[in-house]
Amino acid sequence: MDYMVVYSSKTGNTKKIATEIFSALPGMSKDMQSMEEYRGKDAEIFFIGFWVNRGTCDISVIDMLSELHGKKVALFGTCGMGREAAYFRSIEQKVNVWIPDDCEYLGTFLCQGKMPMQVRENYEIPMEDPERELWRKKMLRNFDEGLFHPNEEDLRQARMFVEQVLKKC
Ligand SMILES: Cc1cc2nc3c(=O)[nH]c(=O)nc-3n(C[C@H](O)[C@H](O)[C@H](O)COP(=O)(O)O)c2cc1C
Repeated sequence: MDYMVVYSSKTGNTKKIATEIFSALPGMSKDMQSMEEYRGKDAEIFFIGFWVNRGTCDISVIDMLSELHGKKVALFGTCGMGREAAYFRSIEQKVNVWIPDDCEYLGTFLCQGKMPMQVRENYEIPMEDPERELWRKKMLRNFDEGLFHPNEEDLRQARMFVEQVLKKC
């Protein structure tokens, strides 16, 4: 098997990116499975997808990454926060640290994903402190922007990410 796409997705955002990455991979020697389905199928290059949970990935992704040896590994993920380069970098660093040293790390693609509507309620009540109020409004704008993600542009960038990864190989 050339390529294996394995993803963890609670509400479907990361699955959407996984599907795009899978379809962008050339040839027939490829497969895609959710983390729950995955039973150790081997491949030369792994694309591992995660949703951001409290600033990092969930434990199933940590377990999966830790057990990969001698593989080429690319990461992709979705998170509630929109395009903030520093935040995306911090997530990348917290997740790629789990890739064993005998693997070749090929990079990370991250984009925003919509969050459940209940989350919006946390940001709907005005705050007295001006700084907190600015933060609240920012979070509200971010939430509403997230409702449209992953969008066509995110999918296009995911396809470009695949191209970049393949060039590295
Ligand atoms: C318990 C929980 C914790 C989350 N923590 C973060 C976080 O720390 N940072 C962030 O940007 N998004 C966070 N999110 C938002 C998700 O990462 C985001 O909605 C993601 O796109 C979900 O992907 P999925 O649809 O594949 O499950 C959190 C969501 C949940 C449910």
